[in-house]
Amino acid sequence: MSCEPDAPARTTRPDPQPGRTGSGRAHAKAILLGEHAVVYGAPAVALPLPGLSCTASVVFSGQPGHGLNGYGQPDPAGGAAGSGAGSQAPLELRHLVESTLERFRPGEVLGVDLVLENSIPVGRGLGSSAACARATVNALGDLLRLGLRATDVFDLVQLAEARTHGRSSGIDALATGSTRPVLLAGGRVSAPRVGAAAWVVVADSGEFGSTGEAVALVREVFRRRPGRQAEFVSRSGTVTARALEALASGRLDIAGRQLTRHHRLLASLGLSTPVLDRLVDGALDRGALGAKLTGGGMGGCVIALAGTPEDANGLAAGLVRQGARGTWIASIAERGRDD
Ligand code: MEV
Repeated sequence: MSCEPDAPARTTRPDPQPGRTGSGRAHAKAILLGEHAVVYGAPAVALPLPGLSCTASVVFSGQPGHGLNGYGQPDPAGGAAGSGAGSQAPLELRHLVESTLERFRPGEVLGVDLVLENSIPVGRGLGSSAACARATVNALGDLLRLGLRATDVFDLVQLAEARTHGRSSGIDALATGSTRPVLLAGGRVSAPRVGAAAWVVVADSGEFGSTGEAVALVREVFRRRPGRQAEFVSRSGTVTARALEALASGRLDIAGRQLTRHHRLLASLGLSTPVLDRLVDGALDRGALGAKLTGGGMGGCVIALAGTPEDANGLAAGLVRQGARGTWIASIAERGRDD
């Protein structure tokens, strides 16, 4: 005989407002310093990329059933690719919707339909999965008037990220919802000090890189080579600390050199590719103050540091001539646009 308490019976409540739409939005991010090492406790810095975003819309489902019933991701070119039943939605999103409903509306039969409009290139280390998860949670919060706190949203996004990437530090979940640069160090979140305006050019290699696979690769390197984890984490921490000090005092030349050192460090773990290396070298040849891969690696994007918007524009144009599939420019500013 089971002594466990009965699970609460599910109740079907009439929609509070049929026809109501809940909306949520989140943007892309680029990791400036500390990726991978942050998974093992080292500090990392990420920048918001507000020009690339994911928008979620949710409505109470027209079909019976609990959780994510309908799902669509319109093709940005105008088609309807990706629409379908909830069962065709990415697993982590289905799980995310169910977890949110279970946590905040336990025992109720609530079915929703979700549409995601995502301009963030997928598999480029720009936080597409975290942004889509954050947008979805925000949309559910809006639809159901959940009054979610920042920590609730973070925890739920992390649930989805753990499914997508395996182990996840939380920096993507934070940066995709922040209007200012995010420093995650020792479990604390703050904004890094910035002593001089700086610009970062993000250039897409066109290669798909799975962050989950990259995180697994690093774990495997550390498992096979005792001592490598401690060495990598310590070196990454030193490079990040020097770069942060240089950024705070406006010494972009020193900060840039740390970025390039960071690239070599990540490449030594097998995270770069010939295309990423070429883009990094090309950026440096064209006068970037520093350049590195960004995010999980094994494909994806590189970032290059510039001291003026004109330099950033010149670098972006040069990187496109070099074969980059797309470029975006972000400013490193201490304060967000909404402050
Ligand atoms: C991915 O943007 C950053 C990684 O460090 C993973 C993580 O921090 O969860 C590779």
